[in-house]
Amino acid sequence: MSKYKLFDFDTTKYPFKETVEKMMEVNQLDMIHEVFNFPEKLEIIKDQNTILHDKFYKEMKKEEFTELYQGFVREFISKLDMLGGEEILYQTFPSFRIHQPNNIAVGQYHRDSDFGHNTHEINFWLPFTNAWDTNTVWIGDPDSNEHECMEVNYGQVSYFDGVNSLHGNKDNLTGKSRMSIDFRIFPMKYYNQQDQEQTETLTQKKKFVIGEYWSEL
Ligand SMILES: [Fe+2]
Repeated sequence: MSKYKLFDFDTTKYPFKETVEKMMEVNQLDMIHEVFNFPEKLEIIKDQNTILHDKFYKEMKKEEFTELYQGFVREFISKLDMLGGEEILYQTFPSFRIHQPNNIAVGQYHRDSDFGHNTHEINFWLPFTNAWDTNTVWIGDPDSNEHECMEVNYGQVSYFDGVNSLHGNKDNLTGKSRMSIDFRIFPMKYYNQQDQEQTETLTQKKKFVIGEYWSEL
């Protein structure tokens, strides 16, 4: 059984690619390395802190992206059968990843629970470029037969259990950059204010509470 599940969305209604192209001021996202190439291999901790991350995170707070993202969560994600219409929180600002040729996107194989994430979180992964082979996320122990490549085309959003299952990436040998966001949904029934206040995110030091990491729908 596959470790991930894909959902197709309407790219006319949710034009992530065009929006992000404008934000990043490039006309072909998977060739963004030709405009700005990371001079070195990304490393743990520093891997989420490049010029391109700064640019995305700054632009993301503007209306065009927030409306698109919030609309997508509200109208598409929250309506998925797997969420069963239950009351949910969503990640206020999604996490941005960029995986350039001959580089990595995230510095190590991990489970999100290693970094203070609650085990009931539900992960979604949405690429703005096609993601396959060595430019995508791999799920499962890399030394086992269960190691699975998550193939996702633009226009699809993937669900996988990133909190509890090991995942990571490889040296990108595809020649194309991959850019994606990932975001989490948290069923309200598991939310406990005191527990959530005990933990914070690794890079941004945001507390996992409503009004910071989480927002109400
Ligand atoms: Fe992760």
